[in-house]
Amino acid sequence: MRVALRRAAHQIYDTPIVFDDPFAIRILGPEGQTELRRTPDPAPDQKQRPFSMALRAHLVARSRYAEDQLACAVASGATQYVLLGAGLDTFAHRNPYPKLQIFEVDHPATQAWKRDLLAESGLPAPPRLNYAPVDFECESLSDQLLSVGFDPTQKTFFAWLGVVPYLTLDAFRATIGFIAKSPAGSGVVFDYAQPRRVLTPHEQLAHDSLASRVALAGEPFQLWFTPPEVAYELEEFRAIEDIGSIEINERYFQNRRDQLQLRGSGGRFLTAWL
Ligand SMILES: C[S@@+](CC[C@H](N)C(=O)[O-])C[C@H]1O[C@@H](n2cnc3c(N)ncnc32)[C@H](O)[C@@H]1O
Repeated sequence: MRVALRRAAHQIYDTPIVFDDPFAIRILGPEGQTELRRTPDPAPDQKQRPFSMALRAHLVARSRYAEDQLACAVASGATQYVLLGAGLDTFAHRNPYPKLQIFEVDHPATQAWKRDLLAESGLPAPPRLNYAPVDFECESLSDQLLSVGFDPTQKTFFAWLGVVPYLTLDAFRATIGFIAKSPAGSGVVFDYAQPRRVLTPHEQLAHDSLASRVALAGEPFQLWFTPPEVAYELEEFRAIEDIGSIEINERYFQNRRDQLQLRGSGGRFLTAWL
């Protein structure tokens, strides 16, 4: 919900929009929309809230980057899009690709909650969307996907946004191992966080603040990588793009009048192709 609230706030407060999502507000449901209205307009005091602006920039750029990479995958023949840990992502409601099958994989509790929210908001069920409830720590991604019509022989693009830092290394490896068995031309996009030890003191403060907030919510961060460490985990992939805040800001946040941009070196976006 906190991620979705920021995507929704972006539609209202930021100009120009980096990630255009006409369903970002509706998917919040009535309670989430009340919460969105309670949050003050961040624009007037944005100089005082650089951390909040940077986090919103990170979240909207992450979704935009994933969908830009998906466009490349579809152009080169991908026919399936699997959102791992889909949360309140609304891509299925905006899918512009008539031949693309979508699979939303999420923790069973999160997925049931999302489906309740969708019913409450009155959003119609999108075509070509299949739900697969899976706990990455103890359930088989492969079995659950196959049971809802996933075809492992088709070129597939996987998005795994905002999930990796919450996993154990074993669960990360099991999922990457599954993706790596996909046909050539398939790919995966995910974001990951660098370990505290490689951050500057200022970045460590931001890291600690976010880490303590997610731990309080009962979902602590537990997996970090440096770029060489994550590259080691992706040996089976033939091409990797791994970008940090400088490249992301150049790509998505140039020539703005507001302060919306990523800060620090903690968070990175990565796409790996088979
Ligand atoms: C921060 S949210 C990101 C949601 C979405 N990808 C987005 O960008 O808005 C983290 C997501 O990871 C999922 N998740 C975390 N641990 C999981 C696990 N062990 N198995 C399945 N899903 C998990 C949560 O249910 C949630 O949907």
